[in-house]
Amino acid sequence: MSTLRLRELSVVNEITRVLTQGLPFRKTLSEVLKILYAYMGVEHSFVAFKDQNSVKIASSFGLPEPEGVAFGKGEGITGRVFSRGIPVVIPRVKESNLFANKTGIGKFLSPDAYALAVPVKVGSEIKGVLTVFKEFESEESVEKFLETLSIIGNTLGLFFKLSEKLEEERMRWEEEKRMLTMELRERYSLRGILGKSKAIKNLVELVQKIARTDSTVLILGESGTGKSLVAKAIHYESPRRDGPFITVNCAAIPESLLEAELFGYEKGAFTGAYSSKKGKFELADGGTLFLDEIGDLPLSLQAKLLRALQEKEIEPLGSEKTVKVDVRIVAATNKDLRKLVKEGKFREDLYYRLNVVELRVPPLRERREDVPLLIEYYLRQFNEKYQKRVRISPKAMKLLLEYHWPGNVRELANLVERLVILSDGEVGPEDLPEHVKKRDEAPRGELPKLIEETEKQKIIEALEKTGYVKSRAAKLLGYTLRQLDYRIKKYNIEVKRF
Ligand SMILES: Nc1ncnc2c1ncn2[C@@H]1O[C@H](COP(=O)(O)OP(=O)(O)OP(=O)(O)O)[C@@H](O)[C@H]1O
Ligand SMILES: [Mg+2]
Repeated sequence: MSTLRLRELSVVNEITRVLTQGLPFRKTLSEVLKILYAYMGVEHSFVAFKDQNSVKIASSFGLPEPEGVAFGKGEGITGRVFSRGIPVVIPRVKESNLFANKTGIGKFLSPDAYALAVPVKVGSEIKGVLTVFKEFESEESVEKFLETLSIIGNTLGLFFKLSEKLEEERMRWEEEKRMLTMELRERYSLRGILGKSKAIKNLVELVQKIARTDSTVLILGESGTGKSLVAKAIHYESPRRDGPFITVNCAAIPESLLEAELFGYEKGAFTGAYSSKKGKFELADGGTLFLDEIGDLPLSLQAKLLRALQEKEIEPLGSEKTVKVDVRIVAATNKDLRKLVKEGKFREDLYYRLNVVELRVPPLRERREDVPLLIEYYLRQFNEKYQKRVRISPKAMKLLLEYHWPGNVRELANLVERLVILSDGEVGPEDLPEHVKKRDEAPRGELPKLIEETEKQKIIEALEKTGYVKSRAAKLLGYTLRQLDYRIKKYNIEVKRF
């Protein structure tokens, strides 16, 4: 193989490498022209692509005025290749009457310079023209050069076709993403938080106000009250709505993995870290990070989280450098964080950091007037889903309204779904689950238990203070003796005698 052959091979090789690098379209073209200069001494060149009835320069090398230059069919050397689709070679181009000199290159060319132009085709369709200006030593090298240039022209054709396809795909994805975002925005807007009670109206109003700011929000409420729903509404009502909404459930991920999940890791940070991975903080950049079940965050990670919140930067595991992140934090828990702080299970400084704005989502039993509305809503939804027309009888409805809903809206939605699946026609009281029917036997909520526990403690204290003289203890507590006796029995308090 002659040295020339080798050089041609390496130029094609190099160009293929650039074309497959995934650079932007114009950047790729300009890299190709640079290679032509570096490997084949082409000091002036350009690629023009079809734009209606002409070809327009998309990228150039060593041209004085390439901007916006286009060649009509048959206009100049480039225009001729565009109309005929076959390569053209013009020796002593400056003297040729085909030379249009639209880019002003004429004055930079020697009298011996050639112009060579090859079509860029996709199938039989001419998509563009690659034009170069160059001097040669012999006729033979012109031919070899033209051969190589034709191969490059064909390769550019393939590249053009792929780029077109990719662009089409990209536009489709963009459109799809736009539709999905709109759908999400609709679903998780404030309108998704149902309820006409004062409690819900206040909540919605507050969410609206908070959403506009960038402050950290702590959402408190029992299980199933809609904390996650509220978190999403805050995001989708906020100026960050086009950014990501990322959830981390601090209770669902084992402690050993949670740090990597939150902050990411570098390749080789630990056994099995074969590549680096972004943490949720980085993924939420520009959007909202929802830390669900924050009360379950292990103490070991609380300090790291606090640092991330304060510095607004994170340090991936095994990494030396920190990464700036722009995220809004929304956290939620059904635990009593204050109590956890007192018990030393939750850092006080982190608590105050999260608790900039506190939102309490009320349990369903505190807003019973919303129950009919929610039942209606889910009934409609599940009837549609299961293609049914189930109704709820007034008697059954009465029981549902009196029920205390310890599992809140989630329990209500699940119950309605079950009723729709299991019944045809009307749901009567007998169709309701036992615990809903017999509300006397319904399990007690947390609060009554707490009250009882406090009462019992108070009685014991009073008894101890008064040396177990019941009449004095009763007076201290503001009870009659009978009332005190009743409670001593109820709580099984041991009355010591001296
Ligand atoms: N006000 C509401 N209007 C409509 N649907 C609601 C409302 N509140 C809650 N829901 C629905 O109830 C279900 C439970 O809500 P969500 O998951 O937000 O509760 P949560 O407080 O995050 O519960 P957990 O503490 O168990 O995580 C969801 O399906 C949610 O869509
Ligand atoms: Mg939740």
